[in-house]
Amino acid sequence: MNAMLTAEDRKWVEGTYEKLKTKLSAECDRIGSGIPYIPENGKYVDLDSSKRHLNWWTNGFWPGMLWQMYHATKDEKYRKAAEGVEEKFDELFSEYLSLHHDVGFMWLHTAVADYRLTGNERSRVRGLHAASLLAGRYNPAGKFIRAWNMDRTGWIIVDCMMNIPLLYWASDELQDPRFRFVAESHADTCRRITVRGDGSCNHISILNPENGECIDNPAGQGYASGSSWSRGQSWAVYGFALSYLHTGKEEYLETAKAVAHYFIANLSVNGWLPLCDFRSPAEPVLYDTTAGVCAACGMLEIAKAVGENERPLYLNAALNILKAIDKAFCNWDPEVDSIVSHGTTAYHTPEGHHVPIIYGDYFFTEAILRLLGKDFLIW
Ligand code: GLY
Repeated sequence: MNAMLTAEDRKWVEGTYEKLKTKLSAECDRIGSGIPYIPENGKYVDLDSSKRHLNWWTNGFWPGMLWQMYHATKDEKYRKAAEGVEEKFDELFSEYLSLHHDVGFMWLHTAVADYRLTGNERSRVRGLHAASLLAGRYNPAGKFIRAWNMDRTGWIIVDCMMNIPLLYWASDELQDPRFRFVAESHADTCRRITVRGDGSCNHISILNPENGECIDNPAGQGYASGSSWSRGQSWAVYGFALSYLHTGKEEYLETAKAVAHYFIANLSVNGWLPLCDFRSPAEPVLYDTTAGVCAACGMLEIAKAVGENERPLYLNAALNILKAIDKAFCNWDPEVDSIVSHGTTAYHTPEGHHVPIIYGDYFFTEAILRLLGKDFLIW
């Protein structure tokens, strides 16, 4: 348990963990090695991921939750279910062309988590294979890892800050700095191009792939070019905090803090519930809880990195966000699939507005386990 929590906060965290255990145990019995994404009427559909292809970027989050719960409870059913998803991903390696920058989200939460917790050698190889694919996307002239495929040769996106921990892991594992050089070079470019002076971020920047010169900053999943897509901000909070953790470079911690301050300022005037975009029109009111729970994990990581005088700022902000989301948007009925509602996939995608999304549940789970000291570093 985090030693700085008040008695009231401890009670909330412990009570939430009890609900989490009941809910995820029931979900594991129903879902097993299926691959959930967005439920319909309280039930996950398309558990074989046939409608959205096996390579869909969110497909690692359910096994990530399973590994977190296996680590916290030692219940073997979580491990067995997670292993089943990891094996399904193997066919993706031979496809190659359809894989993308999100291999970090997919294999950190499956094979690398398995290897870290069980020492499974086959999982280590899978993780190193995925890391090599990610490193192979690096553009040395522009100094960035390119996003997506086809003609997007110069695209860099803030989301990728959450994928590069796969490269830090591979360098540590092989005792070979080359993967870390790629990760740091990408993080340096992302810091320079993506993060603005006020702590807000672009989602996407389009660079000239021949020299790295910035050509455009389109809206991406946010409201408009120059706006502030909140999940992108949360990727930066947590992503730069993780790059600090893995490298010790102070500038990454400074960036994580700057984006966190911007995030906290926006939520402090909105009941600690994150809008989908902090610079969108007042109407419609469009929330994205997934941004809040991801940023809360990042703030808990920052709280570990700063001195004790600064720590309450990040710890209390994370708690405020998690408690507000729990009160307004969590469903603890074990018979209903998913916990956190009111996630939003993208500002201009109405069918993805105010829905539960698997990564919202992942980050909520990780945050509660972090507060209890029962998490393990999956990143
Ligand atoms: N592109 C990943 C996300 O939706 O955050």
